[in-house]
Amino acid sequence: MLSGEQGEVIERMSRLLVRLGDIYGADRMIPVGSVQVAGVSYKSIGDPGLEFLEDYAGKGAKVRILTYLNPPGMDLENWKDLGFPEDFAEKQMRIMKAFRKMGIITTATCTPYLAGNLPRFGEHIAWSESSAVSFANSVIGARTNREGGPSALAAALCGVTPNYGLHLDEKRKPNVVVKVSADLKFNSDFGALGYHVGKQVKKGIPYFRGIEGANTDQLKALGAAMAASGAVALYHVENLTPEAHLMDPKGLETIEVGEKELKETYGKLNTGKDPDIIIFGCPHASLREIAALAGKLEGKRLKKPVWICTSRVMREAANRMGFTEVIEKAGGKVVADTCMVVSPIERMGYKTTGVNSGKAANYLPGFCKQEVVFGNIDELLKRVLT
Ligand code: F3S
Repeated sequence: MLSGEQGEVIERMSRLLVRLGDIYGADRMIPVGSVQVAGVSYKSIGDPGLEFLEDYAGKGAKVRILTYLNPPGMDLENWKDLGFPEDFAEKQMRIMKAFRKMGIITTATCTPYLAGNLPRFGEHIAWSESSAVSFANSVIGARTNREGGPSALAAALCGVTPNYGLHLDEKRKPNVVVKVSADLKFNSDFGALGYHVGKQVKKGIPYFRGIEGANTDQLKALGAAMAASGAVALYHVENLTPEAHLMDPKGLETIEVGEKELKETYGKLNTGKDPDIIIFGCPHASLREIAALAGKLEGKRLKKPVWICTSRVMREAANRMGFTEVIEKAGGKVVADTCMVVSPIERMGYKTTGVNSGKAANYLPGFCKQEVVFGNIDELLKRVLT
């Protein structure tokens, strides 16, 4: 690959991987089972990204392994009805075409593990969406560093990644204990906890005590928020996540999180007052989350827009179960492919967004110039039901 025998693209991409391995002291390259590429929305990569991808696709670059994509900046099928700008859509479609030409699966989602790309325990992968990296490492026990868009694409085209960081046993050990005494009921509570802990531990590996019986939606909310407010790519939860029993957290510094800290975090994340729109599904909603929203909207009417963002795969299942119909009858939308952060919602006239996600609350002010109303699903819906 390095000699250029496999073409210019592979030569460049393998050089990138070697450079990365040298910087981080990797001993060798290891094969990866799957890849997930971020940097898909035209809003984030712009014309330079589009031109780079078209150039590579035009030169015949093809991925060697199962490769999924992060969300683009719009619903790829219903963008017109939802009011996405035409000029944006045209560029976004060109980006998708370039990825497809390279053999990348254009089921674009930040929850690939819910949409057909599910690694096994211990499998080496190269994923780049930070919430998916956290979920794969922590909840599944697969192994990935937090790849950038280019290094993930390089892994997909070359089939390998440098062996360093979270691929190694010794780098997966916790360095801080988080003792949780707060009562965690709603998914937003897990988002607030994650936001608070991410700010404290930054790049660390927390070992949680006191979280009992959390489901995978709650763990995805927790991990996403920690990856956003800090750079946490792996966490362990005592008696819950698959590697926790292999760790010895004795003697580590301990942080305590109780009701007071949780309440303060809710306060910090609320920068707005009256939402123009409420958007659920960060990370992309599971079928269970869509079903829960449908249950709460059955027979009701909304006076403001409510979206739930999800993958195309989940939306198809929601359609079949009649959840989409219930949500739409109330005046809401099940938006596939994209999300509130990577889509240009600020260009669509929205100024204040209501969310139950710690990650979305972290990014909306900077990425989308939004004021944020952060709350649990019931509090948010109360504001917009007639
Ligand atoms: Fe996914 Fe968008 Fe949130 S990519 S994790 S829904 S910011």
